[in-house]
Amino acid sequence: MTQRLLNRYPSIADLRRQAHKRIPHFAWEYLDSGTGADACMRRNREALEAVQMVPRFMRGAIEPDVETRLFGVDYAVPFGVSPVGLTGLMWPRAERILARAAGKQRFPYALSTAATESPEVIGPLANGMGWFQLYPPRSPEIRRDLLQRARDSGFTTMLVTVDVPIASRRERQVRAGVVVPPKITPLMLYRCAIRPAWSLGTLIAGGRPRFRGLEKYLDGSDMRDMLDFIGKELGGSLDWEYLQAVRDEWDGPLVLKGVLSTEEAERAVSMGYEGIMVSNHGGRQFDGAPAAISVLPTIAAAVGDRAKILFDSGVRGGLDIVRALALGADFVLLGRAFMYGVSALGGRGGDHVAQILLADLQNNMIQLGCKTIPELRECEIVT
Ligand SMILES: Cc1cc2nc3c(=O)[nH]c(=O)nc-3n(C[C@H](O)[C@H](O)[C@H](O)COP(=O)(O)O)c2cc1C
Repeated sequence: MTQRLLNRYPSIADLRRQAHKRIPHFAWEYLDSGTGADACMRRNREALEAVQMVPRFMRGAIEPDVETRLFGVDYAVPFGVSPVGLTGLMWPRAERILARAAGKQRFPYALSTAATESPEVIGPLANGMGWFQLYPPRSPEIRRDLLQRARDSGFTTMLVTVDVPIASRRERQVRAGVVVPPKITPLMLYRCAIRPAWSLGTLIAGGRPRFRGLEKYLDGSDMRDMLDFIGKELGGSLDWEYLQAVRDEWDGPLVLKGVLSTEEAERAVSMGYEGIMVSNHGGRQFDGAPAAISVLPTIAAAVGDRAKILFDSGVRGGLDIVRALALGADFVLLGRAFMYGVSALGGRGGDHVAQILLADLQNNMIQLGCKTIPELRECEIVT
């Protein structure tokens, strides 16, 4: 079965095409878009593709060793799933599918604060592979409660997302009808009707996606109230004092997600953050931001001896993972790639994306003559 799927969908690009055919237009635009003119999103890809590496041959038989220890946990691979909010909009029960794949194959799955399932449901399914992503709530009580719930549900690592000081305007999504307050139009219903697998799956999963992890902080689950709550409570209040409070309240590994500035990376590390995640949110927040891969080497050189460097934004295959590892990342995450897989293949999507990435990672390591991940850092890079 795995081989048949690999023959049919050998790359993330194949899954992307299939996902486009399977989900309604508004869900597709929510998943696939960047912000503004999508320039930052494009830049992520162009800058990754511009990283060329000189292959080395005559090194005998090579069996790459890709197991990676991070924050005291052994992972089978140096990659995992970035947090994605409103997940069930792209495919019903997507969080469960990805958490199960992660738990089985031993790679991390990061659950978003804005996911459509609660930490209590997903933590146990991830089987020790769960990370939790915090959109920083303004209220300290809600913050402490979310941290406690994540801990109690078995999430080992906390990612604090810093790159959403305001909801991005995301014009493509607005054009597709993903607006606040939500509005269901005849065109949207038609777009659901012509995607029957998605529509049926959504009905069986209980209808329209809900932010289940946040419902306890509101009376009821009314979508307008919820979006209002998210807008007012989860954004725009972050400062260094706040980050210190999270450090004091979370006693496990803590990662700052969305860092593009060396100075901010330095300061977070000096406060005791164990991980810096170099990311521009996949080009979804600020269209003028640099490609994440372009700033990775400087940040890794500045703090890589004191903190783990995580990376995402634009990664679409094993070769991109190799590129990021060679440029200083210790671990690489992917948002859209996993969601393309689940939208394209449903329950088999998470496993299949991981298979593609692993096969591609190993293949490219052999091309480069590298047996281990540290050896990738010694590769000759041409830019
Ligand atoms: C549909 C979608 C929703 C996202 N939701 C969140 C979120 O809730 N929290 C967060 O920290 N990042 C979120 N992100 C950003 C991802 O965690 C990640 O940084 C980004 O997807 C990486 O780029 P890539 O999609 O090119 O791999 C989201 C990304 C996408 C595509």
